[in-house]
Amino acid sequence: MLKFDTITDLNNHLEKLRKDGFKIGFIPTMGALHRGHLSLIERAKQDKVITVCSIFVNPTQFTNANDLKNYPRTMDADSSLLDGANCDILFAPSVEEIYPHPSKTFYNFGFLETPMEGIHRKGHFNGMATVVNRLFEIVKPDFAYFGEKDFQQLTIVKMLVKMQALPIKIIPCETLREKGGLAMSSRNIHLSSKEKEEALIISQTLFKVKELLPTTPFDELRYWAINNLTKNPNIQLEYFEIADAETLKPIKDGITNPDQLNSKIRAFIALKIGQTRLIDNLELN
Ligand code: PAF
Repeated sequence: MLKFDTITDLNNHLEKLRKDGFKIGFIPTMGALHRGHLSLIERAKQDKVITVCSIFVNPTQFTNANDLKNYPRTMDADSSLLDGANCDILFAPSVEEIYPHPSKTFYNFGFLETPMEGIHRKGHFNGMATVVNRLFEIVKPDFAYFGEKDFQQLTIVKMLVKMQALPIKIIPCETLREKGGLAMSSRNIHLSSKEKEEALIISQTLFKVKELLPTTPFDELRYWAINNLTKNPNIQLEYFEIADAETLKPIKDGITNPDQLNSKIRAFIALKIGQTRLIDNLELN
């Protein structure tokens, strides 16, 4: 695996590859890599592309200074994991390389940025889109791979590509789960073993909602899920939402039959266990 930390060196190398007819598959990350990230590399490999993985802890998408400070930084371990996964190129730029002038672009993603994470992490999507757009400009990938665990992020990135008319195909990749169902996340390392047990309530609730959906009206389902998620006083629920998978508009109460909907819907959860914030979601129909 080759490693670059400057835009010029990366560009010189990618330019040669493009001239030789290679396509570029891009996996942007903030490091603290786990099997979920490696599955994005594996997915990209199926497309016979040169895989470029970036590791950059993006300050503009953090809405809390402590969260940014405490975000796990594990470059050596990440680098060996990527090497082991046969990633072709690691791009690990400094903050100055990505943001030579302190900058943030202001995007309007309409309703997509307002619910769920939009309420609880104000400004997060703007910072995320700023860095993703900057990385897209630098890497100029043909394909980019994003996990469905951050489903609202994935939806906004698709919108960004449309708005900027970028010639990039966004490939959604399924969430990888640990034994027991907990969605893999860089934040899981902050959980104690007791908290990890407690966190199982998230995926258990999502899968139960999926099972109950065909026979239960939405209002009852929502009531049941919220009750189930708030039984443990160590858990602070931020939201439970059932929403259209494309528009992210919440599904209104009063619908009793999922066949009344002609689009895909998903359930979304965000909560804190102790100090650790976790999110997850699942397609329901
Ligand atoms: O999902 C992430 O890890 C980050 O939001 C991303 C897409 C790498 C942008 O910093």
